[in-house]
Amino acid sequence: MNRQNQNPSISRRGFLAAGSAAVIGAQAIASGSGAAGRGKSSANEPWPAVEGPFTLEPLPYAQDALAPSISANTMSFHYDKHHKGYVDRLNKMVEGKKLAEMKLEALIVETAKDPGMSGVFNPAAQAWNHTFYWKSMKPKGGGEPSGKLADKIKADLGGFEGFKKAFTDAANGQFGSGWAWLGLRDGKLEVTKTGNADTPIAHGGKPLLVIDVWEHAYYLDYQNKRAEYVAAFLEHLVNWEFAAANLG
Ligand SMILES: [Fe+2]
Repeated sequence: MNRQNQNPSISRRGFLAAGSAAVIGAQAIASGSGAAGRGKSSANEPWPAVEGPFTLEPLPYAQDALAPSISANTMSFHYDKHHKGYVDRLNKMVEGKKLAEMKLEALIVETAKDPGMSGVFNPAAQAWNHTFYWKSMKPKGGGEPSGKLADKIKADLGGFEGFKKAFTDAANGQFGSGWAWLGLRDGKLEVTKTGNADTPIAHGGKPLLVIDVWEHAYYLDYQNKRAEYVAAFLEHLVNWEFAAANLG
């Protein structure tokens, strides 16, 4: 596994240099350490940061880099409000608890076992899923994979067209909010969908690629036309190098 690529951008405090801040354009997001991470607001922050062990790392590209498939306006709300909100919520929920000392993936697996822990699981899984989603896309992405991943898709999913149909059906067929995934289970590729915050890593799966089909991911650009957003994701955004690195 390519740990660097697999690793979500939310991380335990200490993974980032002390005092560092994740800078997106002109907007600084507190990294959880230093003055900006101590609950003090600044002109560059949308609201006071929540102090906690989990942090939000930068997007892997500029907020306007995926336009016109995904607008800078959508990215701004999605990353600065929704994703950051999940991280802030998670930090509040684990404050003063042993959970705050866990790595994010382990925390997700642990809290998924207990429905009574959904208040922690939901923001934790959403934080992880969103980071994985940002990395699943790149400017001028899309098209078909090559090499080992293409061979694997041919062997396990009937080729690229088989993958495309299964992934499109999963993404468009997810009722309500959720996610559609290309993943690996028991050595074989699978296309799955999960509802709300649920994530394959809570159930022994190994994700390679994901699309967010919550309405907040596409409504500003596509309104109710989720299918057009899913098609744009496949044609113009998929980061196949990220998926291949996750396949290992
Ligand atoms: Fe989202």
